[in-house]
Amino acid sequence: MVDTRTQPVSRTGAAAPRFSDSDFYRLADTYGTPYYLVDEATLRKKVGEVEQGFSEFRGAFRVAYSVKANFNPSVIRTFVSEGIMFDLTAPAELQFILKCGGSAQNVLYTSITETLAEYETILKMGVDRVVVASYNGAANLIEAAAKTGVKARVMVRVNPEVHVHAELRGSMGHGKFGLQFEGTSQDTAHSVLKKILTSPAVAFEGFHFHLGSQVEDPSCYSEALEKLESFVLQSRRTLGDFEVNTVDIGGGLPSPYGRKVPSPKDLGGRIVGQLNSMVESMGKRFTLVAESGRYLTAESTVLVCRIVNVKNFGENRYVYVDAGYHVLLDAALLRHEYPVEVVPGGRQAGHKTVLVGRLCDPLDVFPTSSRSKLGGAEVGKLVVFREAGAYSIVLNMPFHSQPRPPVLMRNAQGDYLVVRKRQDLEALFMEEGGDCLPS
Ligand SMILES: Cc1ncc(COP(=O)(O)O)c(C=O)c1O
Repeated sequence: MVDTRTQPVSRTGAAAPRFSDSDFYRLADTYGTPYYLVDEATLRKKVGEVEQGFSEFRGAFRVAYSVKANFNPSVIRTFVSEGIMFDLTAPAELQFILKCGGSAQNVLYTSITETLAEYETILKMGVDRVVVASYNGAANLIEAAAKTGVKARVMVRVNPEVHVHAELRGSMGHGKFGLQFEGTSQDTAHSVLKKILTSPAVAFEGFHFHLGSQVEDPSCYSEALEKLESFVLQSRRTLGDFEVNTVDIGGGLPSPYGRKVPSPKDLGGRIVGQLNSMVESMGKRFTLVAESGRYLTAESTVLVCRIVNVKNFGENRYVYVDAGYHVLLDAALLRHEYPVEVVPGGRQAGHKTVLVGRLCDPLDVFPTSSRSKLGGAEVGKLVVFREAGAYSIVLNMPFHSQPRPPVLMRNAQGDYLVVRKRQDLEALFMEEGGDCLPS
């Protein structure tokens, strides 16, 4: 059994290594297709890039990995060894962090359900930084803190209601996430802040917002920070002086997927000056947190599958692979376009290539653009989907009784490890209730 634990390694200067075509074929012969292949050095490099983007900020800066993007234990262990924080939203995610050697003290916990039972559970497990986003949630957290004796540091999740240019938007018109600054109900940032400031069981820590995922225009961050700053200064007039120790700008850093998108440096360049002036106006060198799931994981991973059939239909050539949206769900859900290429490539013939998966569903057609390299597609060749490390492995589903593919990792020493085995068909049968059948 190969030891898959990762050791801390220096990420300075680590270039994102590319995999060779012969690596892809060798691994396909050994493990079958489809498989995911993760590059540990790229995971580490991405952390450094985010930190570098905010290096001009005058206070402390922390990256928090949004575990929802990819909770493979080897990925988590890599980030644990980088010493970064974790953005979690479920007690089960916390179990994963602890099992991977992470610390609950390094966690920012943002619940969606905000129940008393959930808060009691996570406080007992050692979490002390919690983001609340409703009045009921704040009341539940205060009660859980009083019951457990853990003085939680509370962040208030605001929804700054700004327009976001992104693949997934979570601000304007999305009341599910965060609180309006002001309003007539008790579910406002103002009334929740007041409740927290007047509750001895908890301590106020700061503010949080999350605007969306794959945010391609960073101006929404500037607008959100502007609104937050004026809310803080205004609230101090009515609620008295309070310190803001942490400002968390959520996730959303985009992965290129073959296009030009803002880098962490671009985002930092745009908002660090504004953040530094907030340090002045709010009179506190607060800690800045940027959460990231997609940016930290997407580019590290490829999905490799095999061409199993080709067929001509009118002007089009249909290329069938042994993957499908059950292993790359956002291709169907969001019509998300992953950079995809046939390896080894070849000349693109005159017809249009349509890349389709193995599922019996008309939605199982992979969106491709002129950036995809589909020339030379022949039965038996491999097809590689790049930047497939975020929101893919975690969304695997067993449609058509398909077992979950294996996840392989090239570690920092260059060894190829199995970090998730291919799901056994018998295990899938049992999980689906095979042992519940009447005998
Ligand atoms: C609160 C919060 N933070 C961070 C993220 C991560 O977003 P991304 O992967 O786009 O960086 C999400 C994604 O849904 C989120 O809900």
